[in-house]
Amino acid sequence: MIIKNIGCLVTCAGAYPKKKDDLKDAGIIENGYIIIQDKTIVDVGSGERYKKYLKDDEQVIDAQGKTITPGLIDSHTHVVYAGSREFELPLKLKNMQYIDILNAGGGILSTVSNTRKASMEELEQGTKERLDLMLAHGTTTVESKSGYALDFENEIKMLKVNSDLNKKHPMDIVSTYLGAHAVPNEFKKNREGYIKLIIEKVIPYVKEHNLADFVDCFCEKGVFTIEESRKILKTAQALGLKAKIHVDEIESIGGAELSGEIKAVSAEHLVAASDEGIKAMAENNVVAVLLPTTSFYLMLNKFARARKMIEEGVAVALATDCNPGTSPTESLQSTMTFACFGLKMMPEEIINAMTINAACAVGREKEIGSIEKGKKADIAIFDAKNLNYLMYHFGVNAIDTVIKNGAIVVREGKTVY
Ligand code: NIG
Ligand code: FE
Repeated sequence: MIIKNIGCLVTCAGAYPKKKDDLKDAGIIENGYIIIQDKTIVDVGSGERYKKYLKDDEQVIDAQGKTITPGLIDSHTHVVYAGSREFELPLKLKNMQYIDILNAGGGILSTVSNTRKASMEELEQGTKERLDLMLAHGTTTVESKSGYALDFENEIKMLKVNSDLNKKHPMDIVSTYLGAHAVPNEFKKNREGYIKLIIEKVIPYVKEHNLADFVDCFCEKGVFTIEESRKILKTAQALGLKAKIHVDEIESIGGAELSGEIKAVSAEHLVAASDEGIKAMAENNVVAVLLPTTSFYLMLNKFARARKMIEEGVAVALATDCNPGTSPTESLQSTMTFACFGLKMMPEEIINAMTINAACAVGREKEIGSIEKGKKADIAIFDAKNLNYLMYHFGVNAIDTVIKNGAIVVREGKTVY
């Protein structure tokens, strides 16, 4: 396949993860071309040199007036769940707080009861529909967390949905076990019992059956403490699983500091992260996964301090946090809007943060995240004349075509796989 005459080719190429000034360089090529053979990018350049690849049987795409980026990578989602939570919207608008909704049996726990009840097929069908939407908005790899079942049997069911859909759907799925998302009702009076279940039963099973690459933990006031989170994630690391951690989403209890201490691959949310926490992340190469749509949706009136993190040398990634409670969206294009106006990140920084840096956050940086020779042919073609235009015109799906593994899976914004 040859893609030629590309108005604005955003390669995100170069050393990774991108930090500080490197984050401002998105490797933009004007009048570019991309040559794809089977599933792989074999050449990238500009001008007429693509012509040497022309043969009769080539598929040629003319991308004049379009912006092309690496397939977007959504590095933090809770895309596997059943039911929806629109009933919480009026409560939120009447100022009921997220943690109060959770403690009243709503929030995460209401999704838990729906997800436990759902059959594997039902859960898979709902998830597939969301993955289709993600693909149609330009996402080609997604990290997917369990955590809406919280018992052994149904957490495993969620993780099996990840591995099943990873085989059946064009999307690549990176699986994360998030048993420590909330304490389930049956363990309300026995937190230690729940943590014991996670540590002694579920994590070893997940490792043995290869059901996840990462283990995550919701470390937050009123959810899991620093000590509990440390214990869970260290157990996972000792078995060879990698650590991610939800921290400082609403209040800082030292979660960012903990991510540095245990050398987690990523720390996520970070709205209330302290100066020391940011320093600990920079020193220990922890990727900051920022989720600005969640700050907006929780009406926190506060966004993560992205500028400070970038200045301190933290590698910043961006994700949707797609989930039924705090960020019901499948579109990383929504994340672009809030990254501009909430986080004050520049368009070049934003695109690096949802491609190559997001690849680092999910441990796939060698295969995906940039348009370079040897990388997988995962490519998003947007109906936008340049990168600034893509981020300036908001609230619509700008996707024209999506290429996954070298094949067209979305055409004129519709899935065609
Ligand atoms: O990332 N922070 C914890 N988990 C999700 C919310 C889950 C929910 O409310 O259902 C989040 O915001
Ligand atoms: Fe989350």
